[in-house]
Amino acid sequence: MQQSGPNFEGVYGVTTNPMRLAYMMGTIWLLSQETKSRPLNVLEVGSWCGSLALTWRLAPELYNGGKGKLTCIDVRALFIDLGANTNEVSKEMDSALADEEPFKVFQHNVQFFSR
Ligand SMILES: C[S@@+](CC[C@H](N)C(=O)[O-])C[C@H]1O[C@@H](n2cnc3c(N)ncnc32)[C@H](O)[C@@H]1O
Repeated sequence: MQQSGPNFEGVYGVTTNPMRLAYMMGTIWLLSQETKSRPLNVLEVGSWCGSLALTWRLAPELYNGGKGKLTCIDVRALFIDLGANTNEVSKEMDSALADEEPFKVFQHNVQFFSR
């Protein structure tokens, strides 16, 4: 892989809407106020290529002293009902899942966790 940073190209970064990231950061900030810096463990179900995992990892570092851990899981299998989801993004994601590329992009992107 050529990128010197995370790969958010096309469907690999389709979820990186800044508004979503702001809500995620806000959620972790709020939880860290309540946990009073106790470990904050996050389980992400459906990590795709790891773009949002970068935020789930960064936010506890910023707001909870880095205490806690992030666990990412994904079925790595076709999951889109193309009969119901006829848009181009769904078709591209479904096509990408036909090989190992999304997992390779995930492995690449999580290298950019700061610790
Ligand atoms: C829209 S993507 C999620 C986006 C991702 N969080 C990101 O950072 O870009 C949905 C993901 O959920 C996964 N998935 C679907 N059903 C699942 C299930 N039952 N358990 C775990 N992962 C699932 C799919 O394989 C796909 O990678």
